[in-house]
Amino acid sequence: MSNQSDQSLLKDGWLPGVKSVGFGGDYNPEQWPEEVWAEDLDLMRRAGVNLVSIGIFSWALLEPRPGEFDFGWLDRVIEGLHGAGVRVDLGTPTTVPPAWFWQQNPHVRPVLRDGTVLATGSRGICCPSSPEYAEASVRITTELAKRYGNHPAVSLWHVHNEYGAPISECYCEVSAASFREWLKARYGTLDALNAAWGTAFWGQTYYEWTQVGTPALSGTSSNPAHRLDFARFSNEELIGCFTRERDVLHELAPGIPVTTNFMATNCPSMDLWKWSAEVDVVANDHYLTAADPLSQVGLALDADLTRSLAGGRPWILMEHSSSAVNWQPRNLAKRPGEMARNSLSHLARGADAILFFQWRASRRGAEKFHSAMLPHAGANSRVFGEITQLGATLGDLDAVLGSRVRAQAAILWDWESFWAQDLDWRPSVDLAPRQQVREYYERLWRDHVTVDFAHPTADLSGYPVVLAPASYLLTAEAVANLTAYVEGGGHLVVGPFSGVVDQDDAVHPGGWNGAVRDLLQVSVEEVLPLPAEGQVALTGDLKGRIWAEDLQLLGAETILEYLDGPATGRAAVTRRTLGAGTATYVSTVLDHQVLGAVLDPVLERAGVTVDRDLPWDLELVSRHAEDGTEYVFAINHATTPVDLRVDGTDLLTGETCAGSAKIPAGSVRIFRR
Ligand code: GLA
Repeated sequence: MSNQSDQSLLKDGWLPGVKSVGFGGDYNPEQWPEEVWAEDLDLMRRAGVNLVSIGIFSWALLEPRPGEFDFGWLDRVIEGLHGAGVRVDLGTPTTVPPAWFWQQNPHVRPVLRDGTVLATGSRGICCPSSPEYAEASVRITTELAKRYGNHPAVSLWHVHNEYGAPISECYCEVSAASFREWLKARYGTLDALNAAWGTAFWGQTYYEWTQVGTPALSGTSSNPAHRLDFARFSNEELIGCFTRERDVLHELAPGIPVTTNFMATNCPSMDLWKWSAEVDVVANDHYLTAADPLSQVGLALDADLTRSLAGGRPWILMEHSSSAVNWQPRNLAKRPGEMARNSLSHLARGADAILFFQWRASRRGAEKFHSAMLPHAGANSRVFGEITQLGATLGDLDAVLGSRVRAQAAILWDWESFWAQDLDWRPSVDLAPRQQVREYYERLWRDHVTVDFAHPTADLSGYPVVLAPASYLLTAEAVANLTAYVEGGGHLVVGPFSGVVDQDDAVHPGGWNGAVRDLLQVSVEEVLPLPAEGQVALTGDLKGRIWAEDLQLLGAETILEYLDGPATGRAAVTRRTLGAGTATYVSTVLDHQVLGAVLDPVLERAGVTVDRDLPWDLELVSRHAEDGTEYVFAINHATTPVDLRVDGTDLLTGETCAGSAKIPAGSVRIFRR
């Protein structure tokens, strides 16, 4: 059975029984004596909680011995929540098999690339190709679906937890056998595999399928195409684990949507374009990177990527934190107002549910220093006060449910390309594709331009501007798509070291940028990485970093030139015009501070206005309802108030604003117009 993400499972476009913006979090009552549960329900009511995720880690309690089930405690939890009017997102607990499973099946422990066999005792580790795991996970999922599939409190299934984290690949013999089957399906013949992998290099030709293994750690660099295929295989193997459970749930509990929580930017090994096609509703976990001084930009990027994965449809923020996490080197607490700004930024960018990890802070275990909605300090605390305030705010935002964000630009994002570029022996360790994307994104974030992310083969025709900051791997299909986009009048900007290789990590014929050479009308003769911390001066008083290139113009015009460094006197940024469209090439790394010099003229040609009168740190995003109503979210990250030009009604205070409104420092206002 396939997924039902065409909304057939999303009643009224949203989760069954959830009539408001979802608000709540992971709820782990099994960690507490039952006396505490009543207080939980009482405090949830006070905070306005309407949706919680339960059972995610409780396989050992639900199935204490193989085939022997104990649902009594979960029955009581669900009844309690139902009585309190809290909807249930019910976990399948398959991210942590019980101790008996490991005792019976020690060989299911995953093998790392270096041969290390992981021990049990944490979570999220299991060989994805294991038939024993498949059987056991289907059994517990089946029992849960039979027991709760018709329960009126259940609004959603939460399969597993964060697939791919902490382990996404297994190099054991069972995985190797499964990988061979996957390769047979992909290539048909060994000749085709040998050709795609370029095994003539370093004498790697295979003559029997049984000779092909996993790309485990070797003496030096392994075959990159072999590794890239193993990354694809591993991603699909985990998708198979998800769809196996999803299909059981669809069959036994029809009408309840099924999801799993993604980590849009925090789990690089999962190709979420493929995953998003399999879930009924997209759900995402996001945690601020404390070391990032502008973590709100990273949050916005993550939220925009999640909305793009959801195809613009409403999505669920399945987890974020009320304050500090506990797993970064320095776990910075959120300061007053920050949690609300974070939450409302996700909402502004399309989330229709704002959930946290977790409801009540754990006293024991690995996460006892992680913040919670109800912190160690209890209900009489700033954090719980702000949670209650947020619950009230979200309770006033029903009107926003289902409205959509409209982007003015798209940024290309392709996990396969990142996987390929992340392999070893690249021209420079400093050229980091995700960081390049961040610089382009941050430029537009500071300019209040809303962006979507898109796969290079996606329909781009609706976007006036498309940015490809880091498209190392481009297939022929992607190049045809980008070419058609520019021919159709689109404005494309391509970053350095793009269009270099095909799906097999083989260099495209015709220079370092063979795939996009004709489209850009410029050929990269040689790539010129700079020494560590190196910079190059460009015309226009700009600096490039990390990288330069020797460009040969094939018809494109020079926009900026290298003034020093290895490509002195040659073109650094070029543009070619094709009908009403343009294709700009940027052959060095430009940081967000200087990217405006290249992007502003492109945005202007494309008719995208940049409002530089607004302070850069006022986050401004709109959601649009079907009836034409616009909801303007103004999130002030600065320490000074901002006067915003706006006409409309403040959705939270009811105040009518004609012409302008003050956005106090650190606060959020939402206007309807
Ligand atoms: C992840 C997990 C949660 C919890 C949080 C802590 O997102 O899904 O179970 O561990 O991290 O930040």
